[in-house]
Formats: sequence, C-alpha cells, structure tokens
Amino acid sequence: MKPDSTDALFDPEPTLDKEDLGPTGRPLPVLPEPVAPDPHHPKRALIIALCNQKGGVGKTTTTINLGAALAETGRKVLLVDFDPQGSLSVGLGVNPHTLDKSIYDLLIRRDTQVTEVITHTSVPGLDILPSNIDLSAAEVQLVSEVAREQTLRRVLTKVRHDYDIILIDCAPSLGLLTVNALTAADQVIMPLECEFFALRGIALLTDTIAKVQDRLNPELEILGILGTMYDARTLHSREVLERVVQAFGEVVFHSVIRRTIKFPETTVAGEPITTYAPNSPGADAYRMLAREVLFRCPGA
Ligand SMILES: Nc1ncnc2c1ncn2[C@@H]1O[C@H](COP(=O)(O)OP(=O)(O)O)[C@@H](O)[C@H]1O
Ligand SMILES: [Mg+2]
Repeated sequence: MKPDSTDALFDPEPTLDKEDLGPTGRPLPVLPEPVAPDPHHPKRALIIALCNQKGGVGKTTTTINLGAALAETGRKVLLVDFDPQGSLSVGLGVNPHTLDKSIYDLLIRRDTQVTEVITHTSVPGLDILPSNIDLSAAEVQLVSEVAREQTLRRVLTKVRHDYDIILIDCAPSLGLLTVNALTAADQVIMPLECEFFALRGIALLTDTIAKVQDRLNPELEILGILGTMYDARTLHSREVLERVVQAFGEVVFHSVIRRTIKFPETTVAGEPITTYAPNSPGADAYRMLAREVLFRCPGA
C-alpha cells in the first residue's frame, strides 16, 4: 500500500542517524532468536570452513566462540581442528601433545573410527576433532593419495548425521589441508582483521575458492566476511571496515568482533568466551554472529 501524502506528515520516513548504524556503516538488522532444532528430525550437518591464509586474523577464536554460541542455541556442534598448531584444541582445554589419536589418524589410517577421536568439551553440545603437529605430516602423505582433496570430506560424511553444524578451523595456508577443508565444506567464513593490509590477501583466497568450486566442490559458497580485531576508537579500523563493505557489500556480516584482551585470556582458560565471560560484549558479539549465520542458513 502506498501511503498518501498526508501520512508522510505524521509518519515520516525514519531517518537514520549515526547511532542507528552498526559498525559496518549499515543499519543493524533485528534478527530472530534462534529456536532449537527438533530432536526427532534427522540431522545432516551444515559444514562451514573458517578460512584465511593469513595467521592471527581470528580464525581459531571465531571457530571456538561461534561454535559455543551455536551450541547455546541447542545445536550439536563439532569443531574440526585442521591446523597442525593445534590452537583450537588448546583453546578448548585439550592438550595436543598427549593425544592418543587425532584428526591425522582419521585422514591417514583407514581403520581409525571417528568415535575414537571425537572429544567432548566442557560446553554441552560442543565436541571437537583435535589435532597436533602430526597433521603437518598428513599434508605431505596425502599428496600421493588418490582423491587426496576429498579425504576430509570422506571423514566428515561419517559424522554428519550426528551434528547440526560442523566448523573447520583452517591452517594459515592455502595448501592441501585447506583445499581439503574447502572441498568438505558447504560454506566459507572469512575472518578479516580490521587492518589496512588485510584486504590484500582476500583476492588470493577468493581465487582459491573459485578453483575449488570449479574443480572439486561446485556447491561451495561464501557465507560471509567477518571483521575482527576491530577498534572502534581508531579511525583506521572504521575506514578499513568501510572499504571492506564497499568492496564486498552484503556478504560482510553485520557482526563485528572488537579487539579485547578477553580473547587471549580465554585461550589460557581453555574455554569459550560464552562461558568464561558470559555477559561480556565479546560473548554477545559471537552470539549475534551465530544469529546471522543461522539467518543466512535457515536449514541449520
Ligand atoms: N577480537 C580479538 N581481540 C583481541 N585478541 C584477539 C581477538 N581475536 C583473536 N585474538 C587473539 O589474537 C591471536 C590470534 O588469533 P587466532 O584466533 O588464533 O587467529 P588465527 O587462527 O587466524 O591465526 C590469539 O592470541 C587470539 O587470542
Ligand atoms: Mg588458528
């Protein structure tokens, strides 16, 4: 219905002032509170890879805390540590050095059962497939395998029916491990630190994604770009975010993760921010991201 001209006098177009805009410079959407999935409905996990070949951009932090925030909504979540550094495992209180079996065994030793490797965390509904330095050997050993890019996909197929969402924390490279993650995934989230040079690597990453779409996984989609390490007090951070939105538009998440010492603290504590500091702005930022992810993936 078209409002007539007198309506406009009483009900003017809402004008947005700066306060109504989110950190990405766009109006913040109001997203529905996620409802828990029906426990009787058969599961088929949505698989999301968190990927950026640059280190220190918040991939691991986002995997842990988005995973925990999704688990809070009643979803069963599996996190895959796909970085030989094992930071995801450490961040959830698992010691990579004392692992009996890790994701390495699942990739290389056919007789390993996934259930032997899956580890529960202190967060209800949140499990992990831990890794350690052995995984770097897998990268070399896989090279001579048939269908070497599909190895992780084959592993995850066996657990897909036990989870609603699987998040893969990628290593900081675009090598065979990351190609395996992109081949196994339905969606990619690219964490991007709000730093000037952050944009430079994105072209290489989107190029790799395009190649994987072309040759190995036509279903793969970019779910979103996530601004991390954001410092609202600096003009610099805001400018970088502005440029990211100019370049990529709506694919950029409204949620932005601010720089705070709380995140390094949670690594030491070995738990997600949603339990370590449940009422902190950082915990809320990841809960908002979880809502956005579920809004963009209605089946999950
Ligand atoms: N929003 C943030 N604010 C402050 N420190 C952060 C934030 N996100 C991550 N960190 C810290 O920065 C370092 C790198 O983050 P991490 O998630 O491990 O990046 P990546 O997995 O991309 O290498 C870690 O020490 C982590 O605790
Ligand atoms: Mg990492």
